[in-house]
Amino acid sequence: MEQQIEVLRGEALEAIGAVSDQPSLDAARVRFLGKSGAITTLSEGMRHVAKEDRPRFGKLLNDLRQAVTSALEAQEIRLLEKADAAAAASLDLTLPGTFPGAGTLHPLTQLMDRAVKCFRRMGFAIADGPDIETEWHCFDALNTPPDHPARNEQDTFYLPDGRLLRSHTSTVQIRVMETTPPPVRIIAPGAAYRRDEVDATHLAQFTQMEGLYVAENVSLADLKGTLEFFFRELFGPDTDLQFRPHFFPFTEPSYEIDIRTEALGNQWMELAGCGMVDPAVFEAVCERRGDRVFDPESVSGFAFGFGLDRLAMNLAKISDIRMLVENDLRFLRQF
Ligand code: DAH
Repeated sequence: MEQQIEVLRGEALEAIGAVSDQPSLDAARVRFLGKSGAITTLSEGMRHVAKEDRPRFGKLLNDLRQAVTSALEAQEIRLLEKADAAAAASLDLTLPGTFPGAGTLHPLTQLMDRAVKCFRRMGFAIADGPDIETEWHCFDALNTPPDHPARNEQDTFYLPDGRLLRSHTSTVQIRVMETTPPPVRIIAPGAAYRRDEVDATHLAQFTQMEGLYVAENVSLADLKGTLEFFFRELFGPDTDLQFRPHFFPFTEPSYEIDIRTEALGNQWMELAGCGMVDPAVFEAVCERRGDRVFDPESVSGFAFGFGLDRLAMNLAKISDIRMLVENDLRFLRQF
């Protein structure tokens, strides 16, 4: 039996060493180690071996099995290395690579960057607030009465705990004044949410930019000058602005701003809301802060807010607001 084992070892190692592809290697594994393979068959011969010789032969058989297993593993690695080398040999590192494409900023991001740069030149800092807001920050502090339509569940996304997705970025005015004494001069770009039926001009989530300037003696002239400068930077120096009296709970007086410019067909377009901060807003902030630094007798301010999506649509002549969120590369690559 010892001789048989030695013969089989020689046979197996030679056969495995000669194998040149994976299927033949698998076949060799079955041939020697398989259920009815050569080594298994030989093991069955143990039955005829004298009892006292069994441990010795058992050990020899085990060694054989181990040697064959290692040889199979080594040969498998050799085959893989050969395949790798072949692949590497056909790789020409001097060929030009495939350029993955650099991409571009989303038109809304481009507009936001321009707007932010423009306001920063006028000394406005960027402020931020949470998208999930309290009713107090979204409505009460902004002098918006309980029966105002914006507070209706039909118009606003409420969470079970009573908080809501902010329906405008005016919330950031309150957040900033709560924590920062005057003077404050901030813009707050960010998402706002309304339960609007989605169509060519409405999304349930859109992007707004809010502005707030509070200090001593801030006047309506400051508001007009600031927004005229901004819209002329954006749409060109020949842009006309019209401040149309309007109502917002948090400003008094309030205006809507229409602009008209050659490039956009000389049509008046309504683009923003603005006004002088209502004393009731300052009072709400004072009460929350527990001091009088925003006493409406000593400070005044202006606020404004506009939708960036609407502006982007006008600037880029986009006819359907949904294009801004569909991520269609054929559309986005044009910017
Ligand atoms: N929050 C208003 C809206 O979402 C926009 C607005 C109007 C903001 C007048 C203001 C403002 O700060 O003074 O429709």
